[in-house]
Amino acid sequence: MSSTDRRGDRAVADERGGPAPAAPPQVPIGVVGAGTMGAGVAQSFAEAGHPVTLHDPDPAALADGERRLRAGIRAARLLRRPAPEAPPAAVLGRVRWVTEAAELADVALVVECGPERMAVKEQILRTLDATCAPHTVIASCTSAIPVEILAGHTGRHDRVLATHFMNPAHLKDAVEVVRGARTSEETLKTVLGLLEGIGKRAHLVRDAPGFVSNRVLMPMINDAAARVEEGTADAETVDRVFTDCFGHAMGPLRTADLIGLDTVLDSLVVLRDTTGDPRFEPTALLRDLVDRGHRGRKSGRGFHSYETR
Ligand SMILES: NC(=O)c1ccc[n+]([C@@H]2O[C@H](COP(=O)([O-])OP(=O)(O)OC[C@H]3O[C@@H](n4cnc5c(N)ncnc54)[C@H](O)[C@@H]3O)[C@@H](O)[C@H]2O)c1
Repeated sequence: MSSTDRRGDRAVADERGGPAPAAPPQVPIGVVGAGTMGAGVAQSFAEAGHPVTLHDPDPAALADGERRLRAGIRAARLLRRPAPEAPPAAVLGRVRWVTEAAELADVALVVECGPERMAVKEQILRTLDATCAPHTVIASCTSAIPVEILAGHTGRHDRVLATHFMNPAHLKDAVEVVRGARTSEETLKTVLGLLEGIGKRAHLVRDAPGFVSNRVLMPMINDAAARVEEGTADAETVDRVFTDCFGHAMGPLRTADLIGLDTVLDSLVVLRDTTGDPRFEPTALLRDLVDRGHRGRKSGRGFHSYETR
């Protein structure tokens, strides 16, 4: 199913005279996790006028997230066309940074951007379910965990789905949206309306481990790391084969560095455990880099080195 199909569905509903399921233009949004994805997701909603409450239990992560939001606002003005209209101060002023999950009680939608680990996701989903109003929709930014598993940690199976934003979320205009078996039509339409309102194209896919994006990308990254590990080529050459020979914008190992090698490792573990497929067993090289603190761009070094973070 594509975004084109979605617009078609809406047009049909309108022609039949049914209620147009448009979300209110500016509703309170919650974001959980101020890491690589959280700040960009918050920026995307705040630029469109939504008040955003960003929760992370770690004050240092909140401070870092605020620094990245400021950088993200500058980047969006330089790189996005058309450039965002909202003045930087207005965008910053729409985001509240909180350490307490209780502050998310009244949001209409919460986008969960916590670490890609089953146990942490379970704890976050249970907390959100206990904290948020019954009408709140919970959207996970998970890379690989099936919606059905996440929804199972809540008592609101019909109001859970995945919005897999791309990185960097404030610059990428497409989102992989995953509907669980029990996600309601109303929930889906509300979220698609909100995404459209912030200028994101939705690509709707069915629920499965890794969905489409990471079911394909993660084994490719793992295989690329294995080629370095066995000495077929160094990381630079592996990536150049993809950029120079295939015309990809970025090679798999630079992509891994952009994602964060810890998140890649966690995603592979989720994929291995949910599919039982040994292709997803993380390479020793990937594990070793993460063990040594080389987490990619965010730590200044991964498969490649970066001068600035
Ligand atoms: N990095 C990417 O390119 C990318 C792209 C799409 C989706 N994702 C997914 O988005 C999610 C977030 O990834 P990320 O790269 O931003 O991770 P990250 O490690 O950069 O950030 C995770 C944040 O969650 C916070 N956190 C930890 N425990 C928490 C808890 N119990 N409650 C609330 N917050 C908590 C951490 O302090 C940290 O700030 C993951 O599910 C990941 O798979 C990542």
